[in-house]
Amino acid sequence: MTVNTAELVQRFSKVFPDASPTLLVRAPGRVNLIGEHVDYADGFVLPIAMSQALYVVVAPTNDGTLVVHTTAGDQAIRFPAADPGPPDVVKWGNYVRGTVEMLRREGITCKGGRLFIHSEVPLGGGVSSSAALEVGTAKAILALTGRTMDPVKTALLARQAEHQYAQSPCGIMDQFICALGKEGHALLLDCRSRAIEHLPMALGDTVLMVMNTQVKHEVGASQYPVRQKQIAEGLAVLKAAKPALASLRDVTPEQLEAGRAKMDPVVYRRCRHIVSEIQRTAHAGEVLRANDAPAFGRLMIASHVSLRDDYEVSCEELDALVDLATGIPGVYGARMTGAGFGGCAIALVAREAEERLQAAIRQRYDSRFKNPAIVYTTTASNGAAVHPL
Ligand code: GLA
Repeated sequence: MTVNTAELVQRFSKVFPDASPTLLVRAPGRVNLIGEHVDYADGFVLPIAMSQALYVVVAPTNDGTLVVHTTAGDQAIRFPAADPGPPDVVKWGNYVRGTVEMLRREGITCKGGRLFIHSEVPLGGGVSSSAALEVGTAKAILALTGRTMDPVKTALLARQAEHQYAQSPCGIMDQFICALGKEGHALLLDCRSRAIEHLPMALGDTVLMVMNTQVKHEVGASQYPVRQKQIAEGLAVLKAAKPALASLRDVTPEQLEAGRAKMDPVVYRRCRHIVSEIQRTAHAGEVLRANDAPAFGRLMIASHVSLRDDYEVSCEELDALVDLATGIPGVYGARMTGAGFGGCAIALVAREAEERLQAAIRQRYDSRFKNPAIVYTTTASNGAAVHPL
């Protein structure tokens, strides 16, 4: 664990002097190596659970109330543990509230407690702090109530919380990797069958760098469901010729081309991203098994181009970081990661090139944009877990 547990417990005790913490939950952020915007289209994704995580210090109480404090802005919410109620105006609190409610619907009624949340991954920073908050909360509540739950079920329940309490129709990737990550491995997840495979992250002497633009373009939230509608429209056109098609996962590039004339050109490009990204990700799994960093890097770049031009979910800041990074000797590849419209890009970099990339970003990116990029390295860590104190 990278966090100083004793210091966290001390901070807990300042906020909740009357409660005695008994356990600590660690729930990691995620970066997706490749397979973007295909989890809701039955595709393959290849994320890692990051070494950076969100932590929850947990104390049981017998007052029937759940009080949740976050160090982000030092805010708190409180509600009856057995009845979290509907979503309200405190956005971050809804991820917690929603998770408690989804557990309640599974017959797991929360007991009184104090949760102290501290995140190394910024909330809303493009590495799925929201999934970490949901899965971390679920683990905390399960521990408080003396229950256990299969990680796949936990991930699905956490996603339900996001759908119903954050009104975000997300796919399954973020909650799955947060619950099922494995140290030193990427997770190849088949979003249709939900089959998982942990593939060793052994791409030679490389490091994975995360480059946070520190921007979040508001249009992203509304465009996410628009993309889902567009690919559903494309699928409907293709289904007219081949009714057995269940999703774009079943569509070959040739079949897509054959349907092109009947499709709105924008819808066609959206579908082309999905079909090509699913293929690229399956290929990336092979390349990772073969420890081929240059080939992996090329797939990352192709993925970014497709997200930028066909799916149109990138933005000026992400494109600038990817262009800059891929021009640096020793950088194998770079791409935006996550939903896009801001957030983070990642780069696969030969270790000796790490400082070169850092320096280039300082000189050529930070001088051009309002917010400097926050750049750091990450490694693949374990999924969410409970640690007794
Ligand atoms: C967000 C969603 C995920 C996935 C990505 C894009 O992170 O939560 O389900 O769709 O965007 O790949």
